[in-house]
Amino acid sequence: MENKIKEINRLIEEFKIENKEALEKFRIQFLGSKNILKDLFSEIKNVAAEKRKEVGQSINALKSKAQNKFDDFMSDIDEKDNEIDSIDLSLPGDNVLLGSRHPLSIVNEEFIEVFEKIGFTVSEGPEVEDDWHNFTGLNLPEEHPARDMQDTFFIEKNPDWLLRTHTSSVQMRVMEAQELPIRTITPGRVYRNEAISARAHCFFHQVEGLYIDKNVSFADLKQTLLYFAQQYFGKNTKIRLRPSYFPFTEPSAEMDVSCTLCNQKGCKVCKNTGWLEIGGCGMVDPNVLKNANIDPEEYSGFAFGFGIDRIAMLKYEINDLRLFSENDVRFIDQFKASW
Ligand code: PHE
Repeated sequence: MENKIKEINRLIEEFKIENKEALEKFRIQFLGSKNILKDLFSEIKNVAAEKRKEVGQSINALKSKAQNKFDDFMSDIDEKDNEIDSIDLSLPGDNVLLGSRHPLSIVNEEFIEVFEKIGFTVSEGPEVEDDWHNFTGLNLPEEHPARDMQDTFFIEKNPDWLLRTHTSSVQMRVMEAQELPIRTITPGRVYRNEAISARAHCFFHQVEGLYIDKNVSFADLKQTLLYFAQQYFGKNTKIRLRPSYFPFTEPSAEMDVSCTLCNQKGCKVCKNTGWLEIGGCGMVDPNVLKNANIDPEEYSGFAFGFGIDRIAMLKYEINDLRLFSENDVRFIDQFKASW
């Protein structure tokens, strides 16, 4: 008998109640109408008379133990049920942190969208470039004074390697590799050894464009740039081309767009001129075509290049170029795509 009591005591203690089903099994086994304690009570009559009282007390103790364990778990489960009942479904949900796009990526993609509509493809190339594609092939042979215009980072390991100073290097690669006609834009990061300040950085971003076919003229260039400016800055935008110099284009021009911030009334951003300078352009120099094995007697083309950091600064009224590369999410989180 004593052994039985010990055994049942162990069963009660070790019974794991993890859920409602287990609790019900526990109740049936130890507290239900056919529980095993009842068998013990019915066996008391077989116990020696002087021990009956003690045995009876032990069985009663088992009964209370089982009842207490049951009550404890019951109240636990009740509490949990109450918790579930008290959830307020009208409360707003937790904020899910969503990523946002970098302002330069937004501008980059918007440029691509505008040019894709008129049949331009997108070409990419390496940021570590060789001298031929960044300079010599583009009519900038060694010792050419215009190389100084682009303070270059060279790679120590190989004097022929450098960090590209413009994405015209990709245009050179496309001209060498692709069949004509070519209509492509080349977005990407470029590097120049400039002191870092609010208005200059040692790297920035360009979208350049190239169009080569038979009978491409300066009028085509002008119309393409006007189309771009009106698509991107608004349909009343005007453009202005000022004569300039680039070794890879002849003739060459700087491109301005009418100031979208003050409608040419004059403001701080356009320094009261009514115009914003956004890039360079020109007709591809015949020497460059020859370098890419394209016959300049048969083909002609135009090229242009915009710096998109400046345009993103104008668009979003950002006053410090360094913010673009500091990776502060409080800054980056603010931008939405649309002009
Ligand atoms: N590559 C020039 C620059 O980085 C821009 C440009 C491109 C000018 C194409 C003319 C034609 O400054």
